[in-house]
This record gives sequence, structure tokens and C-alpha cells, in this order.
Amino acid sequence: MAATTRAPVLAGNWKMYKTMAETVVYLNEFKILTQYAEGCEIVIAPPFPALAAAAEAVQGSKIRIAAQNLHWEKEGAFTGEVSAPMLRAAGCSDVIIGHSERRQYFGETDETVNRRVRAALEGGLRPIVCVGETLAEREAGQTTDVLLRQIDRALASLTPESASPIIVAYEPVWAIGTGRTATPEIAEEAHQTLRDRVRKNLGAETAEHLRILYGGSVKPANIQGLMACPNIDGGLVGGASLEPALMAAIIHYQS
Ligand code: PGA
Repeated sequence: MAATTRAPVLAGNWKMYKTMAETVVYLNEFKILTQYAEGCEIVIAPPFPALAAAAEAVQGSKIRIAAQNLHWEKEGAFTGEVSAPMLRAAGCSDVIIGHSERRQYFGETDETVNRRVRAALEGGLRPIVCVGETLAEREAGQTTDVLLRQIDRALASLTPESASPIIVAYEPVWAIGTGRTATPEIAEEAHQTLRDRVRKNLGAETAEHLRILYGGSVKPANIQGLMACPNIDGGLVGGASLEPALMAAIIHYQS
């Protein structure tokens, strides 16, 4: 049987960069730079205050807008939090969940990741679920254990149907913002581990359709080598996504 074709996803995670005005300037330029990009999905994740303006700026293009987090309740006394219906109303289609910076600095756990994933799915948002080991875990030989624990718990209690919109991002923590990319071999091994686990938990069809993105110092110079790997289906790009020309070059990695 021929391998399933999975449309690549190139996603930019802006983290805590860019005001609303800067977002609109970026997207107006980026829309033109990517207008002929075909066969891939493009996602941009600005900070919360810029989401509605971003969604408006990309109208008529194929660019999707993602939030960088969400709360699992729809509304309530949760000062500082934002819910799935609010993100949908602002024009978001996707949401990043469980980024290592949230796990490291804001108390995110495998359990809260799972609650957010379920809330996103219920609210009609496509989750981009981040997993990845720290340097200490890799050096201690715990990479596989960490990845299996994170993916099992992130997707706990989902069915093949409910899980079908999900995108996973493998982001080794030691490669994020460090300029130190995982080699394609290291990344491919982790992606294979994750896909095998999803196959075991949710079945062959879900596993074959699942897009697994690589994240961690992705740039125009290394995207091609990563995308050549059979289990790497795209990139989650931090630093390089802040420059429209660099992000567009990553999206056009084949040309
Ligand atoms: P980076 O960040 O590309 O700057 O390493 C990736 C990420 O954190 O998603």
C-alpha cells in the first residue's frame, strides 16, 4: 500500500513578540511572499492581543491563525485566561498546546495539556500539541520514555475520531532558541517513536494521517534536510518565523 500523503504544515510560533500593528505589517508582506505556496498549510501564532487583527489581515489567503495557549473552561472566574470559544470568535482555527516554555515557566503538566487538548477539540480548534525531552533527559537516556509519557497523557481518553484533527510537534527542549537543531536522524527517530505510539493507542489510520512537526532552531538552511525524512511532516518555527522573508523561505523549502 502506498504511504499516506500528508500535506506539510509550516507553523510560526511568535511567542511574546509583536504588537497588533507589527502583526498587520508582517502579515501584509507575508501574504504576498506566500501567495503561490502550494501543497502545504501555513499557520501563524501571534500573541493574544494581535489575534483578531491577524485573522482579519489574512482573509482571502490560505494562512491560518493559531493562539499559543487556551484554558479548558469555556468561561468563568479565571483571571488572565482565554477560552476556546473566545479564540474561535477572534478568528483562530488552531492553538498551540503544551509548549515547553509553558511547561517550564508556567506550571503546565501532562494533565493540563490533556485538558486543554480536549477543550480545543470540543471548541472546534485544531490543537498543535508539543512534546519533547530536555537535555538532561536525553543525556540520561530517557528520551523515549519521556516522549511516550507525554504523548500518552496528552492524548489520553481521545478516540480515533476525536483525535483526528490533532497535529503533534516534536520539539527537543535543547534545540529551542539555541541554534542547535536536532539532526534529521535524531528528529526522525523521535517522530517514528511518536507515530508508532499513536498507532498502538489510536490505530493505523490516525497514525498514518497524523502530521508530526519538528521544532527547534528551524531555519531556511536546515528545513530541506528535515523535510526529507519520512516521518517529518512540517516545522514549528520560533525565531525564524519573526522575519517574513525567512518564514517564506522555509515555506518554499522545495524551490
Ligand atoms: P526556535 O523555537 O525556532 O526559536 O528554536 C521553536 C519553538 O519554540 O517552537
